[in-house]
Amino acid sequence: MIGFFDSGFGGLQTMKDFQERYPQYNYMFLADSKNCPFGAKDGETIKQLTFDGIQRLFDHGAKIVILACNTAAAYAVRSRQTQYPEKKVLSITIPGVEKILTEEHNERKIGILATQATILSNIYTDLFHKFGGKNNPDFQFIMAPKLVELVESGETNEEEIEFIVQEHINKFHNIDTLILGCTHFPILIEHIKKFFTGDIIDPSKEAAIQFGNYLERHLEIKDQLTSGGQTTYYTTWSPEIFSTIGSRIAEKQITAQLIE
Ligand code: DGL
Repeated sequence: MIGFFDSGFGGLQTMKDFQERYPQYNYMFLADSKNCPFGAKDGETIKQLTFDGIQRLFDHGAKIVILACNTAAAYAVRSRQTQYPEKKVLSITIPGVEKILTEEHNERKIGILATQATILSNIYTDLFHKFGGKNNPDFQFIMAPKLVELVESGETNEEEIEFIVQEHINKFHNIDTLILGCTHFPILIEHIKKFFTGDIIDPSKEAAIQFGNYLERHLEIKDQLTSGGQTTYYTTWSPEIFSTIGSRIAEKQITAQLIE
């Protein structure tokens, strides 16, 4: 099974991107809804919650875990990989950064919409420089807890959603590229596109594209993945609420179980 971890619903969209490309595998999703949002928490707490979530997924049979949460990845992926190198945990943030390293984005004005914790971690600029980003793009950062809240509350009022989305997009100055630096935001993409017509980078989509190659380079993991196209959903809070809102986001009926 391929495990996915997020604080809430955002990771469902990430997992959907993977399932569309690799429908043959079995999947497992864990949302730490009880502790959502992660974005306003301190780094040590985020790291601990993420370590717990990853462990639960491995304990339930995952053979690899995708951190479908930029905030979790910013504070936990490197230390987790160092501590348990044999249990593979992948971040979606890295493929997102790799996309801006390509020539077409290298000299641009790049807006990053993310949680407070992700922005304070400097993960996007650190990775950009670490991977050899030479030019100094004009990076602009906007923290967007209200957008996370919109998704988590299952808001359906279009006017309300668009008002809040527009409010955030208007805070950027003349950007030509927008990174959706939180996995909750691709769920709002149709609304975002109404107010931003430049390039949009969705790290989850980039991660899904790269995953096939990753598996070919790691046959020891690929060979352990079971097939069947089944998905199991876990949450740390109300399975009823998770199933109701999650079904809308996943665009199919899902039934979540409570994980202790
Ligand atoms: N989905 C998460 C991310 O990608 C964060 C949402 C939260 O604040 O918990 O950063």
